[in-house]
Amino acid sequence: MKVLVTGGAGYIGSHACVALLEAGHDIVVLDNFANSCMTSLDRVKQITGEDFPVVEGDVNHHRVLDSLFNSHDIDAVMHFAGYKAVGESCEKPLLYYRNNVAGTLSLCEAMQKHQVALLIFSSSATVYGDPPTVPIKEDFPLTATNPYGRSKLMVEEILRDLVSAEQLTGSGAWQIALMRYFNPVGAHPSGLIGEDPNGIPNNLLPYISQVAIGRLPALSVFGSDYPTIDGTGIRDYLHVMDLAEGHVRALDYLAQGKSTSGCHTWNLGTGKGYSVLEMIRAFESASGKTVSFKMAPRRAGDIAACWADTSKAENELGWTASRGLSEMMEDSWRWQLGNPQGYRS
Ligand code: NAD
Ligand code: UFG
Repeated sequence: MKVLVTGGAGYIGSHACVALLEAGHDIVVLDNFANSCMTSLDRVKQITGEDFPVVEGDVNHHRVLDSLFNSHDIDAVMHFAGYKAVGESCEKPLLYYRNNVAGTLSLCEAMQKHQVALLIFSSSATVYGDPPTVPIKEDFPLTATNPYGRSKLMVEEILRDLVSAEQLTGSGAWQIALMRYFNPVGAHPSGLIGEDPNGIPNNLLPYISQVAIGRLPALSVFGSDYPTIDGTGIRDYLHVMDLAEGHVRALDYLAQGKSTSGCHTWNLGTGKGYSVLEMIRAFESASGKTVSFKMAPRRAGDIAACWADTSKAENELGWTASRGLSEMMEDSWRWQLGNPQGYRS
């Protein structure tokens, strides 16, 4: 299939490009490089030995989308383009709703116009808010506590409406997958592509790596009084290549028409949770470096524990995350060592 990958130069998108090319698909990338650069795509070409077209443009721009769908015979879309910083979304909600919600509307309008009906959307475990119990199943109640999370929830609702409207008229063409990611970490084992956050990282793993390499002095561990094994927050960390391969499985599932209704939801996680202190220890043993840290108050909006029930993805897609914690840490460290300043190295 020929797959349009929006946001394909970003962290998850670039790994998905590798997985798609390795599975024998053709790709076209659309990215405005708001949070990435061309180097990641050059590296994807280097890893896979494949060339592919890259369109520099914005998913909000109808003319860009029209010309892209007119000049390429697109069968399916993986939609990664969007903004993802929770704190920034609280300061700039309009920016987030414009990019994440309106951007997806423009994309869906263009897909409808050009009769492309297969869409895989990057949602997030953030749509579960503070879950009543763990592990989290796909049918748990949905909620949002910040504009970023709300933008994901709004898009999910819009996509569900799109499919319901078609089912009412019996014209069901849309095949949509809502992929709810838990905490993606790690990098391609080549060390050529990985996560390259702008400024000081918000997320745990890039922060730990930058402490280990000496770019940052010490990690603040946000909260030591949660009701968890050691008082620190627990999350379901999954290797970004497992996540990428999960998308390829979802694409195959939708394309083979295995689906009965048009909108599917899958958790992508490992089903295991690790605490912040366990993550620090695992990183130290993979890297041989000491990670300085200090205990700090809880971060506003954080929850105690969150991990996935992955049985739906396992049963329906035949997908499970195969890479363990040490592989996640070794690959993160290889990327950090080879690219101490990210793609600017
Ligand atoms: P990223 O910022 O590395 O990648 C996003 C890419 O989209 C970037 O290359 C950026 O330049 C591009 N982009 C942004 N707005 C665009 C626009 N209007 N037009 C074209 N391109 C645009 O982020 P990521 O970590 O790879 O995340 C990808 C998707 O997965 C996002 O939608 C994010 O919300 C979602 N997600 C990420 C995580 C995570 O922890 N990384 C967790 C859950 C969900
Ligand atoms: N943490 C620290 N210190 C830091 C950064 C994080 O102790 O400097 C802790 C957090 O308190 C939390 C854990 O590490 O307990 C993970 O935090 P992250 O910021 O890496 O990830 P979150 O679970 O908070 O959120 C991430 C994404 C969200 C997404 C969510 C669910 O940032 O966008 O996973 O997929 F919605």
